[in-house]
Amino acid sequence: MKKILATGGTGYIGSHTVIELINKGYEVEILDNLFNSKITVLDKIEEITGTRPKFYEVDMLDADKMDEIFKNGHFDAVIHFAGLKAVGESVEKPLLYYRNNIEGTLNLLDSMAKYGVNELIFSSSATVYGEQDQPDFVETMKTGGAITNPYGRTKYFIEEIVKDYVVAHPDFEATLLRYFNPIGAHESGLIGEDPNGIPNNLMPIIMRVAEGRIKQLQVYGTDYPTEDGTCRRDYIHVVDLAKGHVAALEHMKAGVNIYNLGTGKATSVKEMIAAFEKASGEKLPHEFAPRRAGDLAEMWANPAKAEKELGWKTELTVDDAMRDTINYLKHVKENN
Ligand code: WQD
Repeated sequence: MKKILATGGTGYIGSHTVIELINKGYEVEILDNLFNSKITVLDKIEEITGTRPKFYEVDMLDADKMDEIFKNGHFDAVIHFAGLKAVGESVEKPLLYYRNNIEGTLNLLDSMAKYGVNELIFSSSATVYGEQDQPDFVETMKTGGAITNPYGRTKYFIEEIVKDYVVAHPDFEATLLRYFNPIGAHESGLIGEDPNGIPNNLMPIIMRVAEGRIKQLQVYGTDYPTEDGTCRRDYIHVVDLAKGHVAALEHMKAGVNIYNLGTGKATSVKEMIAAFEKASGEKLPHEFAPRRAGDLAEMWANPAKAEKELGWKTELTVDDAMRDTINYLKHVKENN
């Protein structure tokens, strides 16, 4: 079985993917600087899978340490999750985002080239599409237009860097996975979304409101041209997303291969609130607020290409994700 390096592997999506990789028999090692994750995730991965991945607490900006890891690692492939991802923070600190996300990726590609690691899966994002004429996003759409923040632009620039790298290294096998809106938690309740600092995204904020750490959810805009006036997004269960990475790893091929990872369905903010309340059995305090700059009214994945070429499609629903999120919150509460 292939040996994999997961950069950012103690993070939300990374840790769920590491679990699915280990479950499928892959040998996995993790590089993470723990900026937005906790070392205790390793204990949870071990508790869930019985395997404790080798862990390097390394910042991908440290090219020498990265090189050392590759010198001894003898990896077959890299799944590159590591990166800063707070949209709002990226607007305030663009240089931090460009240096961290882009220079870190350049260091990674240098080490992969030096040690002959020829397979890369990159954690990209639907943000690279920017505004489109239709909300059903397909991989052939032009990207890079009207991206509303530096975070999203780092994802777009890294996609372009990988494309150029492949032109120079035709045998290189690169897969770009464009995530839509990951939500939910592992069924064990041992791991879930637990960002450091103030979250941007809807679900971690809903979780904080449910925990009483935030007074109420601000619903950003109720005057969108949608059925209930709130934005609609393609919320994908993080375990489905993780399994999408395993499917991608099993279908690597030379060139740049791009896939949307989404459900193909859209859910509004009001529907998300109702789904959470149904799963929790409690009202979620919220109030209606003005629109948030940069938000699109609606977007969702056309996931046909991933289903056709990777044999992967989502199996879990928003209700499954709410159930698993609430189960995770219960575990967090019991263990703190
Ligand atoms: C979803 C909806 C908000 C918070 C971003 C990134 C994207 C990806 C997912 C990484 C929107 C509304 C939110 C709140 C709200 N990240 N909302 N009140 O903006 O679709 O995408 O996260 O890859 O790259 O751009 O996700 O969760 O921030 O917002 O009403 O307190 O929830 O307006 O309609 P988004 P989100």
